[in-house]
Amino acid sequence: MTEPDIKKGLAGVVVDTTAISKVNPETNSLLYRGYPVQELAATQPFEAVAYLLWHGELPDAAQLAAFRASEREHRALTDTVKTAIDLIPLEAHPMDEVRTAVSLIGASDTNAGGSVLDAGGSPEENLERSIRLFAALPAIVAYGQRRRRGEEPIAPRDDLDYSANFLWMTFGEEPDPVVVDAFNRSMILYAEHSFNASTFTARVITSTLSDLYSAVVGAIGALKGPLHGGANEAVLHIFDEIGEASNVVPWLDKALAEKRKIMGFGHRVYKSGDSRVPTMKAALDTLVEHYDRREVAELYDALESEFVARKGIYPNLDYPSGPAYNLIGFDTLTFTPLFVAARVTGWTAHVIEQAGANALIRPLSHYDGVDERHIEG
Ligand code: CMC
Repeated sequence: MTEPDIKKGLAGVVVDTTAISKVNPETNSLLYRGYPVQELAATQPFEAVAYLLWHGELPDAAQLAAFRASEREHRALTDTVKTAIDLIPLEAHPMDEVRTAVSLIGASDTNAGGSVLDAGGSPEENLERSIRLFAALPAIVAYGQRRRRGEEPIAPRDDLDYSANFLWMTFGEEPDPVVVDAFNRSMILYAEHSFNASTFTARVITSTLSDLYSAVVGAIGALKGPLHGGANEAVLHIFDEIGEASNVVPWLDKALAEKRKIMGFGHRVYKSGDSRVPTMKAALDTLVEHYDRREVAELYDALESEFVARKGIYPNLDYPSGPAYNLIGFDTLTFTPLFVAARVTGWTAHVIEQAGANALIRPLSHYDGVDERHIEG
């Protein structure tokens, strides 16, 4: 029997079409609905990019105002979600908190799961659900960090845009515009990236005609891993291990001798640099200057140049975003939940796209276990 051509990890396999984003590794470019992501990050609020991902076009002034009004309507942490989060042990990973909160929001939306036959929902219903999750997640993520610090939740502020309000709910201080801008850019850069592992998970779940919340819960589980979204948290762990730029060479000697993966480097699709890194690195640089933390940039540059010189493997988005979130004041454990708050836009755009042209995702496998055998006696 001929061996099938197995594409381990689905590497290089094109499984479907999408009109949401285009990743071009040859030119190191990433387009959301046709727009280069760095242009969007430089000019747009995250709300406009969320709108773009869902509707296919940037909003005009009236559309943005209406969209912002509906986002503001669903910002507050509900008593139900707060009570549920409070039941989770403080030692649990905040990704488990976020996953649980989204699951609870889904279970409370009885239109979404009333009958398995209509669990998929209409595109309009799923868009409404997407906006609610997008609006609700910042309060969930912010409260997660606050409760680990023994602090009460902070109510949202209607006079602040998405990014400024997110920072307000986390820290309880009016954020500096430099910080808001860097944070807004990170949210835009994290929003969407075609068929990455978590988005593909969401599409697999959607393909069974399951509901949008189940797809997002599954995607959160996929994002948690350090080979995917968990890498931004892992970058800070390695920064903490290294300590300062002068320790990079001995640290790297040892880490490579132990065959460790260096978190924040490498990418399945980009092999000569991640299209999002220059924009996020520029945002990190503004934060380094704002907080006067030159040593962070020194460690960043030292590890990057040493690792690239030795392995020819380039940083991915998690490499600059980890230290950027650290400078802003987020706890390391909160970094991947921030990724969730951003990527929920892309995930849900893909859920709606998948549901609109669905085919059950069900690949084949090649059996290499024991030959057929029978129970004796
Ligand atoms: N550190 C050390 N070696 C690496 C790394 C790394 N970060 N990335 C790749 N390699 C090596 C790998 O060990 C392999 O070597 P060999 O051929 O000797 O076995 C070679 O490079 C090819 O790597 P690969 O694992 O086949 O590449 P992949 O396309 O399957 O993996 C990756 C991509 C992202 C899983 C991998 O680069 C990695 O584990 N990186 C660290 C985790 C990380 O930063 N993840 C974030 C990904 S991007 C943003 C996101 O999704 O959040």
